[in-house]
Amino acid sequence: MKILVVGGGGREHAIIWKLSQSVKKPVIHCAPGNGGIAALATCVPIKATDVPAMVEYAKKERFDLVVVAPDDPLALGMVDALEKEGIRAFGPNAAAARVEASKVFAKDLMQKYGIPTAGYRVFTSPEAVLAHLADCDYPTVVKADGLALGKGVIICNTYEDAKAAVQKIMVDRVFGASGARVIVEDYIEGPEVSVLCFADGKHLVPMVSSQDHKRAFDKDEGPNTGGMGTFAPTPKYTPAVEEEVTRTILLPTIEAIAAEGAPFKGVLYFGLMLTKDGPRVLEYNARFGDPETQVVLPLLKSDLIDIMEATIDGTLDQMDVEWEQGACVCVVMASGGYPGSYQKGYEITGLDALQGRDDIIVFHAGTQLKDGKTVTSGGRVLGVTAKAKDIAGAREKAYAAVNEIRFTGAHYRRDIGVK
Ligand code: GLY
Repeated sequence: MKILVVGGGGREHAIIWKLSQSVKKPVIHCAPGNGGIAALATCVPIKATDVPAMVEYAKKERFDLVVVAPDDPLALGMVDALEKEGIRAFGPNAAAARVEASKVFAKDLMQKYGIPTAGYRVFTSPEAVLAHLADCDYPTVVKADGLALGKGVIICNTYEDAKAAVQKIMVDRVFGASGARVIVEDYIEGPEVSVLCFADGKHLVPMVSSQDHKRAFDKDEGPNTGGMGTFAPTPKYTPAVEEEVTRTILLPTIEAIAAEGAPFKGVLYFGLMLTKDGPRVLEYNARFGDPETQVVLPLLKSDLIDIMEATIDGTLDQMDVEWEQGACVCVVMASGGYPGSYQKGYEITGLDALQGRDDIIVFHAGTQLKDGKTVTSGGRVLGVTAKAKDIAGAREKAYAAVNEIRFTGAHYRRDIGVK
């Protein structure tokens, strides 16, 4: 079986790591891939957003399955384009991917179908939104409608903050057309939980719950990042919370998207906040989370290829998806300066000694191979992941592994999994 995975970060490394364990012994290609993925897959230098080039490559190589992992190619309709050529693709089509690509679409869907989320208003002009912001309660949340590399959600404590957010999103168009509309949303509080689900258009299979750490520094201080570490499962997602979330959020969402004429197939990610008034949806993503995937897939016992096939075929209800009982922690090692500017090209040492262990997996995010060495090539460099019977044990092992790895300027949080 031949599989192409689109993307080149830690999430894609985790997907490929899991696919490569299948009894089907797949031959895997990855576009564009990275220095760690290259050990498991043939990496090809096609940009993840280059839809025509990806479709051409998939046709030429006759892949049995193409897994489209990142948000941009999904929003650009890569799955639609592959399916048009008769190529089996895992991921939502562009219509269904709007749950992530347009926050206005997602909020309107939740409102229409009574799915619990924070109150909101949509604005299409800076004047109208500023008039509203001059007279609203703070803190408040200003969100760009479209994709913004995870940076389009701004929590504002004062009118001055909100004015700066509108300037950035709507006037300066830092995120391009994604800033044509903004949402102003009520600020809500509580622990955050990520619940990723396989979805086949009609049925959902939730994965183990997980929790991300988005701020750059310990104790949730510093700027927002793409994610500095994760753990799974989260003890806050108790069986009672899970029952309520399934009944009020997961099932109504899959039904709502189908009722809008765009059944969702792929991974539907629910970013939830457990408020004192009950669980609320913060956001939907149309894909595996990063770095949530790095802690969720190591706990999956079942064959990922079988699950992906069932997702495409609409037969997830006939699958028995099994999970391990243990826990997993992923500590992201980032380049010095990230999420601001940083230097690349530093050699990474200490990786060889960690290879071949079942309980430690180092997922590569921003790395490349150069003259036989692994060097840094991005902001988030590695996701050092460990499995144990509980979170405390996994945390201890993950940090012991982090201590073995060296590169100039490396920074990481010391408190992943503590809360
Ligand atoms: N970890 C957040 C995301 O994948 O969007």
